[in-house]
Amino acid sequence: MVELHDQTFRDAHQSVLATRLRTEDMLPICSKMDEVGFHSLEVWGGATFDVAIRYLNEDPWERLSTLKQNMPNTPLQMLERAMNIVAYRSYPDDIVKTFIFYAKKNGCDNFRIFDALNDLRNMEVPIKTVKDVGGHAQGSLCYTISPIHTVERYVEDFKKLEKMGCDSLCIKDMAGMISPTRAYDIIKGCKDTGIKIPIDLHSHNTSGMTGLSYMRACDAGIDILDTSISSLTGSTGQPPTESVVAALKDTEFDTGYDMSILMEIREYFQEVWKKYSHLHRQAAMRIDPSVTVHQVPGGMLSNLVFQLEQQGAGDKYDEVLKETPEVRKDFGYPPLVTPSSQVVGVQSVMNVLFGRYKKITNDTKEYFRGMYGKPPGEISEEMYKKILGPNWRDEVIDCRPSDMLEPQFKKRKDELEEKGLGSKPEDVLTYAIYPEIGLRFLKGEAKAEFTSDQLPLKKPEEKKEVVRRPEFPMDGKVKVDGTEYDVKMKSGETIVVNGKEYSISVLFPSSKDKQNPKNKPKVDREAFKVSAPMLGTILRIPVNVGEKVKSGDTIAVLEAMKMENDITSPRDGAIASINVKEGQDVEEGDVIAVLE
Ligand code: CO
Repeated sequence: MVELHDQTFRDAHQSVLATRLRTEDMLPICSKMDEVGFHSLEVWGGATFDVAIRYLNEDPWERLSTLKQNMPNTPLQMLERAMNIVAYRSYPDDIVKTFIFYAKKNGCDNFRIFDALNDLRNMEVPIKTVKDVGGHAQGSLCYTISPIHTVERYVEDFKKLEKMGCDSLCIKDMAGMISPTRAYDIIKGCKDTGIKIPIDLHSHNTSGMTGLSYMRACDAGIDILDTSISSLTGSTGQPPTESVVAALKDTEFDTGYDMSILMEIREYFQEVWKKYSHLHRQAAMRIDPSVTVHQVPGGMLSNLVFQLEQQGAGDKYDEVLKETPEVRKDFGYPPLVTPSSQVVGVQSVMNVLFGRYKKITNDTKEYFRGMYGKPPGEISEEMYKKILGPNWRDEVIDCRPSDMLEPQFKKRKDELEEKGLGSKPEDVLTYAIYPEIGLRFLKGEAKAEFTSDQLPLKKPEEKKEVVRRPEFPMDGKVKVDGTEYDVKMKSGETIVVNGKEYSISVLFPSSKDKQNPKNKPKVDREAFKVSAPMLGTILRIPVNVGEKVKSGDTIAVLEAMKMENDITSPRDGAIASINVKEGQDVEEGDVIAVLE
């Protein structure tokens, strides 16, 4: 018998609906989901925590406890990014331990623990903590293809994870590229070497061969397979639950699940799918065997499309996909999964937009310093020098990243209390992990993009129809690519050009465009302006007005595509003015500060 771990409430919508599924659209179907008898249900962790506080104005802790109340019979699982928990960088041990304690307390039974670099040192504390609080620890290794990621290496590492106390193991094929043969060889290898604990295979449809891989996994003795209800799958989603149940029926692997319950669930989510139609993306629905070449995971693919569109660079998608494997090789072949997928993805975007390693993100530097863990393969000295400078050896650590960090929970708790926001441990954790957006959320200043009762929203026009940066506003006229159109405004949110509706957010010109180049004073001061290189949010401004700065000093830290970027001074000078606030959203070209 094979059991299924259902991903509908977590990875399914993370992969095909930009992680936007709201709790109120999960609740009506919970009792049915609980009735199926799944091995477990993944409902939490991964990107769902971030998205809930950033875009949905939902408390992720409340979601977890509510789901547990509504599904008391099935073990609930979270995806836990080892020392990165549910974010993108390392946290100290006390934060990781406290987080796991409260996750368990709020209803999480099973913890799928993985490290983006498969650095087992980063998995020790979470595995031990899950065992200490009475949870089920699933040790997971990211599946990837590279000259150094051999079957033997996987089997060895899984053996180590079993020794470390894991209750089960998981092959996490986040890009959906595991071939039938590789799946068979790794699972068979594990079983033959005497691994006793159950093994789970997590994959995505992306390559088109995943169904075959699941079958071969069964032949090799797999215990658990990851699936999602068919209505919320697609290319970047998981193999459909109902299809896998049907395929294994009347074989030795039969799940024994009741197909009629699954059909009811399917119908429910078909309506949900329609409601979220504004998030449908064709690219996320098409099978793409080229994933075996560029190795970009499903969740990253759909986010990359979104992010490039936000930067007004949707047409650079193919170039970025080509750059990604090159960057990955330079980085020592990290598997592409959060957060390494973000580090490699954003650096690839930077390389395409500004030239190879002309702009290096903070996160790339941190990666090379070893602050994400040990890169799986060798990195050349030349690359280290390029990223960290000639004294790179002094900067690279050889211990576990979290060993460099001071305990943080008490400090964060005191800070939150001082701000008058109480000291509820769950809130302290939200704040500790997401100091900026978590605080905004806890203050009640977060805004929901939409609520369930507002759906469906109007779908944005297809990409090729998007009009970029017309001169606006112009007495009811808008100029697009030299042609003038009559326009009328609608409630400040949409604009109609030639009878077609466009989202106004795409149309606002940046402040750079607002200036008429003819009137631009040709004075030297112009060169002293420091502007935002891209759309994003100002996280920190470490300088004050009047302060002297040197060329290369950080003037502001801009968060774009979930990654931090230093905006540095182009020359020596003093800060004449700071034109933005911390927490402010900026567009490409907006002036951050003026130097004199
Ligand atoms: Co996945």
